[in-house]
Amino acid sequence: MTGYGEAWTKLRRYTIRTLREFGFGKSSSMGLVLNEEVDKFVAFFKNQVNPKGLVYVKDPFDVSTVNVLWRLITGKSHDLDDSKMIELLRLSREYKKSISVTDASIAYPFLRTWFPGWMGRYKQIECVNRLTQFLESLVDEHEEDAKNPHCFVDAFLHEIHKGTDPEFNREQLVYTLLDLFQGGAETTSKTLTFELLYMITYQDVQEKVYRELETHVPPGTSITLDIKHRLPYTQATLLEILRFSSIVPIPGPLECPCDITFRGFKIKMGDPVMINIHGCNMNETTWGDPLSFRPERFLDDEMNINRNASFIMSFGGGKRVCPGQILAESSMFMYFATLMRLFKFENDGESTPTIQPTLGLTYSPTPFFMRVLERNQ
Ligand code: HEM
Repeated sequence: MTGYGEAWTKLRRYTIRTLREFGFGKSSSMGLVLNEEVDKFVAFFKNQVNPKGLVYVKDPFDVSTVNVLWRLITGKSHDLDDSKMIELLRLSREYKKSISVTDASIAYPFLRTWFPGWMGRYKQIECVNRLTQFLESLVDEHEEDAKNPHCFVDAFLHEIHKGTDPEFNREQLVYTLLDLFQGGAETTSKTLTFELLYMITYQDVQEKVYRELETHVPPGTSITLDIKHRLPYTQATLLEILRFSSIVPIPGPLECPCDITFRGFKIKMGDPVMINIHGCNMNETTWGDPLSFRPERFLDDEMNINRNASFIMSFGGGKRVCPGQILAESSMFMYFATLMRLFKFENDGESTPTIQPTLGLTYSPTPFFMRVLERNQ
């Protein structure tokens, strides 16, 4: 269970502030990184399309979206077929797959101690050990750069070398990197894969997004973050994708910060509580027709984004709210708008892919084939 101790508060604050100093959340520097990585992705993606115009969609965005995060954290980018990065992402995926939202151990944690093998504990320990080994050697590579910090890792090392605060030590750095990697790996990437899946399924929405992009983005022009506000239908579609996919359906348990009574249940300070994100995003009272994929629910009569946007719970809430939200939303926009401007996506003509997700700690899209047609440029 995760609480809000002094060390956690200090490190979370430091991490968010320092990442911001290195461009995280600033549209100018983050936009440049995103532009470069999206261009690299488009070239890579075109090569994945077979001579029949089909592509097998299984985690295509994984390395690319981690690259955006990793460039802000370590200052380095990887090739999209980099075997080390692919292996790390595989470990992260294995770890998340071994914990399910339907796991009995979430309600009865003692099961993990009584039946470690059955509860996937050995697999989880192996994955975390291998990920931390990689992060430790990454920190070693940055030791020399700490005097003149160029990225988050250098800056944290600089803080450790100053030796003024024991909370800043190598172990905390490695675990902070692990949290950022685990939080950022796959989340944005899976949401982007859901984007493709929903656009194949809801062709009318895809066409409306394309018409808006065609009007506002002249042929041969790159998508940039600063045009987002001119594309309300595209924004509304991204909000609907976030609501509909709820890729983190139930995040880990948090400590209740005070005694409360909720719907007649007494919850004491320190008791574990969990947010049912999927439940909130699919609540009939809030949304009326939650099972319909309908971006229009986020638009008012003047085509402005309405207050429904604030009811989406996909990034959690409270003190533990996702610190990667701005990066995730910017990435979703840049990849989605670029792909929708360049291509039309359809099913393979033989089968309709399922929109039902595969369960785990996060919801995953089930891999599918799709047809890719280039739009007139
Ligand atoms: C569409 C993409 C993403 C979604 C839907 C998402 C969603 C979430 C959710 C629901 C939580 C739990 C919040 C809670 O307990 O209330 C979380 C936590 C977290 N996320 Fe994200 N996230 C995404 C992308 C990212 C990215 C790109 C990063 C990279 C910085 C990131 C880093 C984290 C971290 C480090 C935590 C733990 C925060 C803490 O416990 O203090 N996430 N995210």
